[in-house]
Amino acid sequence: MKGVILAGGLGTRLAPLTKITNKHLLPVYDRPMIYYPIQTLVEAGIRDLMIVTGGNNAGDFLRLLGNGKQFGLPRLHYAYQEGEGGIADALRLAEPFAEGDRIVVMLGDNIVEKSIRKGVAAFRKQKRGARIFLKEVPDPRDYGVAEIRGNRIVGIEEKPRKPKSNYAVIGIYLYDHTVFDIIRTLKPSARGELEITDVNNVYIRRGQMQYEILDGWWADAGASPQKLLETNLLVARQKGVHIPCACS
Ligand code: DAU
Repeated sequence: MKGVILAGGLGTRLAPLTKITNKHLLPVYDRPMIYYPIQTLVEAGIRDLMIVTGGNNAGDFLRLLGNGKQFGLPRLHYAYQEGEGGIADALRLAEPFAEGDRIVVMLGDNIVEKSIRKGVAAFRKQKRGARIFLKEVPDPRDYGVAEIRGNRIVGIEEKPRKPKSNYAVIGIYLYDHTVFDIIRTLKPSARGELEITDVNNVYIRRGQMQYEILDGWWADAGASPQKLLETNLLVARQKGVHIPCACS
């Protein structure tokens, strides 16, 4: 299985922090944000990894990550997304890299506390289709939200005003090779993007979507300055750092 990390987009929700750099190069405690999803995929046994990025600072990824030696990788692959056509548009660029293999896709601003090894292993045994991770959150309106009946997901809504559950779809997706055919059928959403939620809904309609409930905490570090700060504190705490502060 190959891995793809999506690190394009303009990061406008974090402006002005992202005016002169890419969101995924911003610090999360003691390292750049992009380190965390790379570590998660490498820990899950992925050796073949592509980073998709874009914008004015794409060259900085090469300077920072090189061939991935600091992660124990023999090499890293890169692709450049022109514009900000959405998550599925960025993923499209990984088709030649995937070479018909299965892929695990992780959003470059998603950070998880624990290993995803179990979910990846379960997908290896799955005959076909896709597998996603869900996390119960108090307010899921900023995310893709799963509607669940019995033990099946019957649909996902992107950032719904009235969520049908509290289960957010986190930014780690396991796909078979048909994902690229699905992307070719997509039309841009109201916000002008090719949506990953539309990809997932095709698998759901085909009856080929399985899911896991994620173990441990999950952070969408790039969602807002507050989320970025919160993620910094979560990561520092995980690393055993005591930060005396008046905040609760
Ligand atoms: O974090 C999980 C959520 O991520 C999911 O629950 C949503 O269903 C999914 O749509 C996504 O929502 P966001 O609004 O948080 O996505 P965002 O625009 O922040 O993009 C997430 C990552 O995808 C970002 O770190 C970089 C990458 N990306 C995004 C766009 C729009 C690209 O590589 N290219 C792009 O054009």
